[in-house]
Amino acid sequence: MKINFSIKLKIFLNILFFFSVMITINMLYDISESKNQLNKYLYNLNHSSAKLLKNNIQSDMYGLNYTNIKNTIDTFDNSYFKNIYILNKDGYIFAQRNRREITFNKHESFDALIKDKKQNQFLYFLPIDFSNKIIGYIIIENSHELIKEIIHSKENKILKIFFIMLFVTIIFSSILSFVITRPIFTIINKINSINKNDHLAFNNTSKDEFAYLSKVIEENHNKVQSMNEQLEETVQIEVKKNKEKDFKLFEQTKMASLGEMIGNIAHQWRQPLSIITTAATGMSTHKKLGILEDEFFNNSCETINKNAQYLSQTIDDFKNFIKGDRIKIIFNLTNEINSLLELLKGMLKDNNINIVLDIKNEIYINGYKNELIQALINIVNNSKDALLDSSIENKYIFISTLEVEGKVIILLKDNGGGVPEDIISKIFEPYFTTKHQSQGTGLGLHMTYNLIVEGMKGTIDVKNVKYIYNNNEYSGAEFSISIPIN
Ligand SMILES: Nc1ncnc2c1ncn2[C@@H]1O[C@H](COP(=O)(O)OP(=O)(O)O)[C@@H](O)[C@H]1O
Ligand SMILES: [Mg+2]
Repeated sequence: MKINFSIKLKIFLNILFFFSVMITINMLYDISESKNQLNKYLYNLNHSSAKLLKNNIQSDMYGLNYTNIKNTIDTFDNSYFKNIYILNKDGYIFAQRNRREITFNKHESFDALIKDKKQNQFLYFLPIDFSNKIIGYIIIENSHELIKEIIHSKENKILKIFFIMLFVTIIFSSILSFVITRPIFTIINKINSINKNDHLAFNNTSKDEFAYLSKVIEENHNKVQSMNEQLEETVQIEVKKNKEKDFKLFEQTKMASLGEMIGNIAHQWRQPLSIITTAATGMSTHKKLGILEDEFFNNSCETINKNAQYLSQTIDDFKNFIKGDRIKIIFNLTNEINSLLELLKGMLKDNNINIVLDIKNEIYINGYKNELIQALINIVNNSKDALLDSSIENKYIFISTLEVEGKVIILLKDNGGGVPEDIISKIFEPYFTTKHQSQGTGLGLHMTYNLIVEGMKGTIDVKNVKYIYNNNEYSGAEFSISIPIN
């Protein structure tokens, strides 16, 4: 699981953001406040100086006494005042502090000041009146440079403080975010490092929320862990039981497969054995009666020999595919069905069962030949049992093959009446049988299912069918096997 360690970052950023905004607002407020204060101070200074000046020069102005006025304005020496102008009533400069001689030029800002009646930031403007008549004006020009310098140095100071506070804020937020999240990391590290079988113990001695959280985690972990232990034990026991069961089933299936065969061998042997017995008994009777002729003797010996060989051949046939290696080979399906019928010939004949074939000649399969035959034998044996149980007179087993889309389909049906519908879904289960203990193991179809589905990656299905054959209506079970050709 990918973990995004973001709570720490979030706390850090939130605190940082909050305090940064606060100190920024504070800084901006400080700057604007100090500007205001300076402006106020300047205004008061200008205002009181101009008033004082006005009172001092009022009469000199009336008398246009240049020397007195000049002397007076020269005393108003203050670093905030860049210059002081005394204008006549038409705005012409009569005297100014920074110049000795009279220029009598019009003051450049006079018209604007008269028009606006407003104080410019760096110019203070005050009319001089005498007996209710305006006889001139005072203009105090403030020093831009000085004011800018004052403001600048004030701003510098404020900025310095701002950066110091920002730095402190960063330190503070990182410490705080660390302190808040440390217990979480302690818990995470502990959980990450713990072996899944170990007992979890946080040893948290504090009494805060994290202590509570660790306690809950601890309890849950330990509960789950002990449950796991129990579960593991149970699973192991069950696995062992299952293995034993599987082994038993495997052994029994092997036995069942032999059983399905032996039954057929017995039928296969019945006739040759009885022929051998008849021949031997015939010979011995003839001998006792003294009528044993050479020809009879030779014929009997030949018959015995032929049948003994046949017995030996059947044994080989069965052995061949019981012991056959499990290797994939390419084989002709028709040939194999024929040899299957050869193996079952005796049994079919003894039980009066007819085989009806509908087979395509050229189907080649790349697969496990002997296992397919074993699977088919199991099905045919079941049909035989069903047919013997039924009272039907003409007993049939139909075998047909066809090839569809890279698969071969083998259909086997009988006219034994079919599988009762209430058990049809269970017949592939191991040990499911409806037969007497001595007759059925319930393993035949289970084995067949495994051989087809697991061994050959094919499918097997069963259903009950009704059909007409030779103008008679029959019903029975139909097994359909589908296996891939390759
Ligand atoms: N062709 C069939 N017709 C009717 N019932 C069948 C047929 N094939 C199988 N069955 C039913 O399926 C059961 C399981 O078959 P199988 O696994 O071969 O075990 P077993 O033959 O030992 O009983 C049989 O007991 C029988 O009830
Ligand atoms: Mg069976």
